[in-house]
Formats: sequence, C-alpha cells, structure tokens
Amino acid sequence: MKHVLKAAILGLTATGAMADVSVERGEYLVTGPMGCGNCHTPQGADGPIPGAELSGMLVDQNPGFTAIASNITPAGDIADWSDDELAKAIREGIRPDGSVIGPPMPIGLYRHISDDDLGSIVAYLRTVHAVENDPGKSVYNIPLPPAYGPPLTSVSAPAEGETAEWGGYVASISHCFECHSTPVEGVPDLAGHYGQGGLEFAGPWGVSVAPDITAGEDGIGKYSDADLAAMIQHGIRPDGNRMLPPMPYPYLAKMTDQDLSAVILYLRSGPTAPPAEM
Ligand code: HEC
Ligand code: HEC
Repeated sequence: MKHVLKAAILGLTATGAMADVSVERGEYLVTGPMGCGNCHTPQGADGPIPGAELSGMLVDQNPGFTAIASNITPAGDIADWSDDELAKAIREGIRPDGSVIGPPMPIGLYRHISDDDLGSIVAYLRTVHAVENDPGKSVYNIPLPPAYGPPLTSVSAPAEGETAEWGGYVASISHCFECHSTPVEGVPDLAGHYGQGGLEFAGPWGVSVAPDITAGEDGIGKYSDADLAAMIQHGIRPDGNRMLPPMPYPYLAKMTDQDLSAVILYLRSGPTAPPAEM
C-alpha cells in the first residue's frame, strides 16, 4: 500500500533505502515544524480558530500584493486535484491549470522537500477535517516568476539524525530563512543575506522584525542552546519576555528533540546560503 501510494504520487520506481510515506509523518510536518497553519489557518483574537484548521485566510497585504492562503482542506480547490498535482503545487508552486502560486508561500525552500516527506504531506492533507470556507483569491500586482526552478522529478533528504546536515534540511522545509533573511526589493535575499534578519511583519501586534540568526555575536552566538530552545519552541526570550508573531513557535513546539538539536547545530555551523537541492 505504501509503495503504491508513493509510486502513484511521484511516478517513482522504488529504489531501495527510502523511508516510508505515512500520514503520521505528514501530520508531524504540517502541524509541527512546517507550520502550514501559520498561514493557512484563520486567526481570531485568541489565535488560530479551533475547528477551522487549514481553511485559508488573508496573510499579507502590501503594495505588491494581497496574499490569501487557500483553503487546503478537502473542501478546498485541492479536492479536485490528483495526489501528483497536489504534490507539484506544494513543492514547485505550480497548480494543475499551470498557474503559479505566489508569495509568501515559501516555494523556494519547499523545493527541498524529499519525495517521502512530500508524499506524507499529501497523504495527511487528504485526511484533515473538510472545512467549508472561501477565503477569497490573492491579487498580485508584481509579476510572478514562470516557475521557481526547473521541474523536479525526485528529491532526497540527508540521513536523519542529530547532525547539522539534517538540521539544514529541517530548517529548509520549516522555511526559517524565508523570514529571517534580509529583504532586497521586498523579497528575502536567500543568496546574499541568508539569515541576516530585517524583514518586518505588521499585524494586530504592531510591527515585529525577524532578527539576525547567523552564527556570530550579532546573531545567535550570544545564546546558549537552552536559550535557543526556549525561544524557538516556546517564544520566551532569555529575559522572560514573550515573542511576537509570526515567529511560529506554537508549531515549532512540536519539533522532536532530535530535529531541534539538529537545527541548532545547523545554525551554529554558520551557513551563508541554503543547502543545495538534493
Ligand atoms: C508563509 C505563508 C505560507 C505557508 C507557511 C504555507 N503556505 Fe501554502 N499558500 C500561501 C499563500 C499566500 C497561498 C496562495 C498564493 C496565491 O494565491 O498564489 C498558498 C497556496 C497554497 C496551495 C495552493 C492551493 C490552491 O487552491 O490554489 C497549496 C496546495 C498550499 N499552499 C499548501 C501548503 C502546505 C501543504 C503548506 C505547509 C507544508 C503551506 N502551504 C504553507 C501561504 C503559505
Ligand atoms: C513566519 C516567519 C518566521 C519563521 C518561519 C521563523 N521565524 Fe524566527 N522569528 C520571526 C520573528 C518575527 C521573530 C521576532 C519575534 C519578536 O520580535 O518577538 C523571530 C525570532 C526568532 C529568534 C529570536 C532571535 C533573537 O535574537 O531575538 C530565533 C532564535 C528564531 N526566530 C529562530 C527561528 C528558527 C530556527 C526558525 C525555523 C525553525 C524560525 N525562526 C522560523 C519570524 C519567523
């Protein structure tokens, strides 16, 4: 069954040492470190609205665009898409009708999602509660790229473990650097200012600014591993202050100890550009 699912989603021939596609893994990724709900779940005054998970909302309004994250429950447009088509939309940002998904859906980093994790995400999305909600459609005044890169057929992840390399994979699909890289002409500059901070987020909380998370003293060098864990997973600064949205700590709280340690190792390793697509 698992092989059938994987082959159906990705048109792959099984090539040996691949982890399994599973709804559990998909649930972990979607409701945990990948935090899809941070954009796709409608928010009330008290945070995400219970029972409305993943049914879509307005996420960003600026002169360049009004971005509305779609309803990605089985009651949304994706209901009519095949597993293959949904997988391509998530990893490459291209819908079945050929249209391109716009920012801030972090496709540049989602291109790193491994075949197994992609299959797991799709499998999980098919199981979530169908919520009837029409959040409306985005309007982009800026041109969208024709694609976010060449077509992908197969993507692999590094070996899972408490290593900086695995941490680089987890940080990529959790799109930490999509928020934490300095914007150039409004777009986070992953190539030139990876992790250097400065992107501003306006909302009911006022304006928050994503800090520098590079390895040196201007970044996370001044924090212990315990300080970092408390900030990343609980939104609590070393001085006890609570951190502002949209830092997705309610989602990152679900990260396994292994994934958290690996991400911290990766941050401390001083990366200056995203890991290569594998
Ligand atoms: C930073 C915000 C953000 C995050 C995080 C995010 N998305 Fe999105 N997503 C969007 C926006 C905005 C759109 C609509 C873009 C547009 O209108 O072109 C979108 C569109 C989509 C679509 C296209 C749906 C349709 O009907 O056209 C899919 C599928 C999707 N997202 C899945 C996901 C999944 C799965 C995750 C987590 C793994 C995720 N997204 C995380 C913002 C986000
Ligand atoms: C949706 C955008 C977003 C994403 C994704 C995101 N962050 Fe953040 N992060 C923020 C913002 C905004 C702040 C500042 C919050 C505040 O000022 O209270 C922040 C703060 C932090 C801080 C505190 C740094 C300091 O010096 O104050 C750390 C550490 C951090 N993020 C790490 C991460 C890691 C690791 C990930 C990925 C696993 C991540 N962030 C994902 C937006 C984001």
